[in-house]
Formats: sequence, C-alpha cells, structure tokens
Amino acid sequence: MASIQMNQFRGAFFTALLAVSSACTIPAAPPSNTISSPFRVQIQNASYPEVDNLFMNLLLAGGGDQHLYVGPVGVPTSDLMLDQGFLTRGSLHAVLGGEFSAIDNTVKMFMTDRGDPRATFSPTYACNPVTDALQLELRFVGKQNDVPGGWICVRPTYDDAHEFRYYPPGDTKNDPNKFCIKVTLVAVPATSSSSSSILSTSSASSTSSHPVTSSTATTSSTTKTSTSSSATSSASSAPPPYTDMTSRGFAFVGCAPEERTVQPPDNASRTLPVLYATDSMTNELCMSYCRSNGYSYAGTEYRRECWCGNSYAATRQPGTTRASLAGCASTCMGNTTQICGGSSWLSLYRACAVGAPCTNAQFT
Ligand SMILES: *[C@@H]1O[C@H](CO)[C@@H](O)[C@H](O)[C@H]1NC(C)=O
Ligand SMILES: *[C@@H]1O[C@H](CO)[C@@H](O)[C@H](O)[C@H]1NC(C)=O
Ligand SMILES: *[C@@H]1O[C@H](CO)[C@@H](O)[C@H](O)[C@H]1NC(C)=O
Repeated sequence: MASIQMNQFRGAFFTALLAVSSACTIPAAPPSNTISSPFRVQIQNASYPEVDNLFMNLLLAGGGDQHLYVGPVGVPTSDLMLDQGFLTRGSLHAVLGGEFSAIDNTVKMFMTDRGDPRATFSPTYACNPVTDALQLELRFVGKQNDVPGGWICVRPTYDDAHEFRYYPPGDTKNDPNKFCIKVTLVAVPATSSSSSSILSTSSASSTSSHPVTSSTATTSSTTKTSTSSSATSSASSAPPPYTDMTSRGFAFVGCAPEERTVQPPDNASRTLPVLYATDSMTNELCMSYCRSNGYSYAGTEYRRECWCGNSYAATRQPGTTRASLAGCASTCMGNTTQICGGSSWLSLYRACAVGAPCTNAQFT
C-alpha cells in the first residue's frame, strides 16, 4: 500500500509545490529520493546576497565532465534528476573529489560518468526561510562510502565565479579571502512558468548584469608586457601587447569580450564554450590543449583560463585598433612574460591551416 501511494505521489509532488502560493504546509508524505521529472538547482543562503537564489550552471570540462558553477557563469541547466539520492544528468552524476584545497580541506563537486564517490542527497519539503513558500530541498547527506555529514558550499574562484565544493564533517577551516559559503540546494521544476512562486529570478538578473570585476581575486596584473617577437624601443612602432604564437601555428585574432549577461540575446554564453583552467596556464599550454581536443579557436583569459571552440558569435569579434587590446593585459600565471587576456576579456587565437601562412591580425 505504501509503495503505491509513494508512486502516485512521486509523479505529483512538483504539482503539489506549484499549487501552494503563500502559506507553507509541509505535505504529510515525505518525497521519494528518486525525482524523475527534470529540475534545476537553486542555491540559497540569505546571508550571502551575492549567491542567494542563483542557479547551479554547468561548464563542459575535459573528458565530458561538467563542472558546476553558480550562474551567470556556465550554462543554465534544467535537466537534472535525482536517482536514489544521487544528482544526475543523463549518464553523469555529481561526485565529490579532486582539486583538494588545504586552505579549507574542501574538494570539488562536479559531474562525471566516472566512478568517483558521489554526493548523496535526501529530498526534503521545507518552507523557504524568506518567502515561506513550500520548496523541495536537496539536503546533503554526505559523501558516498564515507563518514556522513558535511555540507555543500560555494567558493569564489577566478573570473567572478563561484564553484561548488564539499566541506567535510568535522572541518573547521575556511579561508576568509576565499570563503566557502554553505548553501541550501533546492530542486526547482524545469517546466512551469508558475514556478515563480518558489523562485526569485529578479535577484539573478540584478546581481549579474555586469560581471566584470572580481571582489576576491586580487592578483590580476595590469602590467602591459610586450611579448611580441620583434621588440623595439620606439614607442610609436612598439609591437602591440599580445603574445605571438605563430611559431605554434596560431594567429592572434584580437582581444574578444565576454558579455556574460544572463538575459537574451547573450544568455550568459561564453565567447568560446570549453574551459580548461590551471594555475600553470600559458599560451602554449592553451593552444596545445585546444588543438589536441580538435578545436580551431583558443583563447586565454584572466591569467589561468583557457577557452576552446570552433566558432564564436559575431558580437564577440574583437577590434583591430591598438586601443581594442586594452582589456587583455593580464599576465599568464604559468609565464608572467606572456599575456593571458583579462577579466572578462579573451586573448583570442585561431589555428592556422597546415601549410598556409600564419599571420597575426594587424592593429592600427
Ligand atoms: C550561510 O552560510 C554561512 C557560512 O557558510 C553558514 O554558517 C550558514 O549556516 C549558512 N546559512 C544557511 C541557511 O545555509
Ligand atoms: C538566447 O535565448 C533566446 C530565447 O530565450 C534565444 O532566442 C536566443 O537565440 C539565445 N541566444 C543564444 C546566443 O543562444
Ligand atoms: C615565457 O614566455 C616567453 C614569451 O612567449 C617565452 O619566450 C619563454 O620561453 C617562456 N618561458 C618558458 C619557461 O616557457
């Protein structure tokens, strides 16, 4: 009897959520730990307005993995599901591991089809602490095959983003300069305009309209180091400030903008879609990563990021004046004599065809 009721309930519980407009009444039956209607994940912590009510976005990483970022960084996703407490998207599931940080003893939460220990959640009805609307929270239970407890937090990373991390039980460390904020994860149904009763989309658009400066990263250099191959002391004929990569088969296109507003037509999209980031980033590393993964465009950004793709929107076409290069003035973390874009600016290169001339754009 109980299982029949549960199955009926399972199909209907998002509907139950939507039917509730203000007063919060917790349904008597608890939700199933399998949610097979697609949802997106909202994060909440009213004490931290910079992340409160924003959504979990995905960003394609190496090997088909998806890294998890707080919007507007990354790609919005509405096709998440819960499979017996595991957060899934197609064949991928959210796991805890990798990129251990000694500053706070946290590791990354990301999505992969590999066998890393998974994040385990227990869906729980609760009343939104601010609006009192009924919501379906994904309460964090713990790391699979490990001591239960701990929580999911979001930590500032480069380029004005927050990434998802696992804060283990018993941990007391947290870096005040890169504070990992404990968040409540909420499953929001993918397909309903009436879901606004349990959302606060206005905060998403108002806090993310101009993601140019990072409040936490302080290492971005503004030194304009010329690294072009033909150095000269004359100011008027000085080479434009970018790193010449033609010997590696990549021609410099220019300094391309990232216009990451969440609204159309931009939709928080990146100029190039595929990210590879490391503290040892150089232009060589980026070009070779993008080339070996079959991409024809490569760009470095914000000292440690490498972006790859096969095309970019016309609205991201860089200028051809020297002034248009101003945003790309940050040195690469892996070689500080090179330039790796800037905050929301991409040092954009294209792969030269084999045997064809490889010529950088001209800047006037
Ligand atoms: C908000 O974040 C702080 C710092 O991580 C944490 O102590 C607090 O419990 C969080 N609040 C909620 C509701 O998760
Ligand atoms: C952004 O989303 C709108 C619909 O909301 C769509 O028409 C438009 O093509 C999208 N733009 C991009 C760059 O994906
Ligand atoms: C750093 O970059 C410069 C300029 O591109 C290059 O000449 C030099 O070889 C690089 N250093 C290393 C250690 O790769």
